[in-house]
Amino acid sequence: MKNIPVVMVIFGGSGDLAHRKLYPALFNLYEQGLIHDNFAIIGTARRPWSHEYLREQVSDAVHETHSEVNENDLAAFASHFYYQSHDVTNVEHYETLKNLAQELDDRYSAQGNRLFYLAMAPRFFEQIAQHINDQNLTSTGFNRIVVEKPFGRDLASAQELNEQITASFSEDDIFRIDHYLGKEMVQNILPLRLTNPLIKNIWNNVNIKNIQVTLAEHLGVEARGGYYETSGALRDMVQNHIFQIITLLAMPEPKDLDSKSIHAAKQELLSSLIIPDEKEIAQHFVRGQYLGSDMTFAYLQEPNVAPDSNTETFVAGEVKFKQGPLAEVPIYFRTGKEMREKKNRIDIVLKHMSNQYGQAHSNNITIIIDPDMQIFITINGKKITETGIRRENLGYLFSAAEQEKIPDGYERLLHDVFVNDSTNFTHWSELKSYWKFIDAIEAAWQRENKQGKKPEQYLPYRMGPKAANQIFDSATEHWIYE
Ligand code: BG6
Repeated sequence: MKNIPVVMVIFGGSGDLAHRKLYPALFNLYEQGLIHDNFAIIGTARRPWSHEYLREQVSDAVHETHSEVNENDLAAFASHFYYQSHDVTNVEHYETLKNLAQELDDRYSAQGNRLFYLAMAPRFFEQIAQHINDQNLTSTGFNRIVVEKPFGRDLASAQELNEQITASFSEDDIFRIDHYLGKEMVQNILPLRLTNPLIKNIWNNVNIKNIQVTLAEHLGVEARGGYYETSGALRDMVQNHIFQIITLLAMPEPKDLDSKSIHAAKQELLSSLIIPDEKEIAQHFVRGQYLGSDMTFAYLQEPNVAPDSNTETFVAGEVKFKQGPLAEVPIYFRTGKEMREKKNRIDIVLKHMSNQYGQAHSNNITIIIDPDMQIFITINGKKITETGIRRENLGYLFSAAEQEKIPDGYERLLHDVFVNDSTNFTHWSELKSYWKFIDAIEAAWQRENKQGKKPEQYLPYRMGPKAANQIFDSATEHWIYE
């Protein structure tokens, strides 16, 4: 679908996210004819850049992410960019920004449509939202806002931020972005569940024993120690990405595939989210911190990290719902920095069935989200020459050419914003439930900190702390991906 005319304002136009993700994604949309010719993009940040300098940056960003570029197209694309030096605390700067947006609206016939993208440090979100309202930056056409994560740092601050934003934007116009919802294999969860009788019929608590979500990263916190100290793995990865994946796995079947039906089904599930009590948290949750090695820093030695920090770089835990197809089924998750390899995967572990062969294993359905995308089902068959059972994987794979074609999450999600499709964005009601859960865990950990308890230490480039192997409900459960 072709987009409609728009003036887009990116707060954080000189930042890393804009450079690595937004500019290349916008260029790809432009190349496919998915951005209307009548568009202008204003990048704002504190630095005193010129329009020309921003255009060079945009062009560099595209070159860095593309092996081949049509230079004429890129020059034409970059000519739509304008730079406005902007201090988010300065009222006058919002007036200047408003005037520039209006001028570009006239020049590009953008019909009063505005899209604001908050791509800077989250501590500024509230202030920007307030100024958008106070200085009347919205216009006469559509007004949409994209908000990066984290949306708040607990339920109370998320609520405050939401109030600031809803002063100028209605819920339907707020796009809380979670780039995991733009990933191919995350978008594949519902089709897999809903279109295969083989899978649909076993997707319930009679057949599924547990689900395991692993988002493992090989890298450490890199240069983001300062940010990470304010978030930790729980807020950085669980509150958003892991919970969205779990919601897609456990939600009841939506009536339809439109945004309203999807969000209604998610809401129905989340109203039955079980908030664990202190005892359950002690039993089923583990937080960890990576140690150093000859070649690498320990988390506590990373730049901008307090030497006695209790911030977790790893977390494992359990989520359960009272209702839905997976009512009471344990959904285990773990995520961490400096783990053995980059691997985002979901293992759906089916219950054992007694059989005449004795030792046969259960079937598992595995979805690999990153870095290689695939789905496989482990099944049992006979060994060729010996007696006994062998295990094989039935695979759903992508060819290299297909993998190439898969758009980046940001490209998909930006397009969704342009065409006003909020299916793959976080609704406020979902976020509220996620924060309630996270707040309970954080509160328990704060109590532990007061008692002098520290996160479990783990060696870099393994699978996290050993204690994470003991979070299960029963002795017959273990991590399938080891
Ligand atoms: C981001 C987190 O949301 O997701 C980062 O802030 C993390 O800490 C990243 O590295 C992981 O995303 P992906 O797509 O590389 O799995």
